[in-house]
Amino acid sequence: MKNGLEDVIAAETQLSDVDGEAGRLIIRGVSLDHLVADGTYEGVAALLLDGLMEKSFDEAELGDWLAQARTRIFGHIKAADAALLALPPVDAMRALIARLPDGEDFDTALSLLAAPAVFLPAILRKQRGKRPIAPDASLSQAADILRMLTGKLPTREQTSALDTYLVTISDHGLNASTFASRVIASTQAGLTSSVLAAVSALKGPLHGGAPGPVLDMLDAIGTAENAYSWLGEALDRGERLMGFGHRIYRVRDPRADALKGALKPLISTGQVNSARSALAEAVEVAALAILKARKPNRPLDVNVEFYTALLLEALGFPREAFTGVFAIGRTVGWLAHAREQALDGRLIRPRSVYIGPLPAAA
Ligand code: ACO
Repeated sequence: MKNGLEDVIAAETQLSDVDGEAGRLIIRGVSLDHLVADGTYEGVAALLLDGLMEKSFDEAELGDWLAQARTRIFGHIKAADAALLALPPVDAMRALIARLPDGEDFDTALSLLAAPAVFLPAILRKQRGKRPIAPDASLSQAADILRMLTGKLPTREQTSALDTYLVTISDHGLNASTFASRVIASTQAGLTSSVLAAVSALKGPLHGGAPGPVLDMLDAIGTAENAYSWLGEALDRGERLMGFGHRIYRVRDPRADALKGALKPLISTGQVNSARSALAEAVEVAALAILKARKPNRPLDVNVEFYTALLLEALGFPREAFTGVFAIGRTVGWLAHAREQALDGRLIRPRSVYIGPLPAAA
């Protein structure tokens, strides 16, 4: 028995492989560095869902259907009343997804791919007293998300950076939210139920809830000179450094470098606050040094959330929305795993070891 199911194999999958020793991620036979070179959200979505739905399609067809689904889904924003809008963005998004019909069919999957992308920008605007912006079916999913968020057509560099983010986080082995999705799928509850369970698992700070706190940490550190002492004091208090460490990776998370690469064109064209990226680099260097000194027996390196925080901030997302943006990208992985599990047909039902008291002898 392993607490946290560490190293336990709980599924066979053709979707993705995480090699924690080599720092390598493969999605359906393609390594992450190849996928992010000019990769689009629609491309990785078509790759992940290939052969798992009742319909076959290519990237362009999926992109067209997805654009139409965004337009359809926009009508559901009306259900966002004051009580829902008082929730944190990811909870408000989950509540709107919960109102969608459940099912195993392709139309349900399309609605679920479109829903977080449409709901999150609309929720953020409504929470700031602004009118939601309707989708534009002529745009890609990444470009449309940014336009629905800001009201402006994004630059080429911004669209490409968001595409890289969405591709990078599309799937990642049997992480906690993906496992949750597969458990629900094994009961045949439906894809909407799988996505709801997965969003709920994602929002915890040990999983997809970390990037907002990464920015809080950078704000608290303030200057590069302050980094080493601030991080040391945080560790003295028993805190974990957000954006560092991973259950599987014992080396640098390859997704961190993919996102760092996506930031470069934004930096070189002046679309990022350069003081912020310089501070982040200094904090990364200081954190790696101090973690190596304090935890010599546990290799701890930067994870995907550190550069997620910088990238999403540069694209104009408020930090409280970062987990919701993660959900926009990861939904396709959750759906692909849910379908793979449903096609396998076997209920997931592990056992536990009872360590409580026994009934008193008669
Ligand atoms: N800062 C300081 N110490 C750490 C960190 C960290 N970020 N991560 C792990 N450690 C230490 C632990 O304190 C522990 O030390 P000890 O043996 O002296 O007690 C040792 O490393 C092993 O820790 P575990 O809890 O066994 O590691 P686990 O595999 O459960 O942790 C996790 C993985 C949860 C991601 C952890 O590294 C963490 O909390 N990181 C910070 C939060 C974060 O960045 N989350 C995003 C992860 S990426 C994703 O899910 C998309």
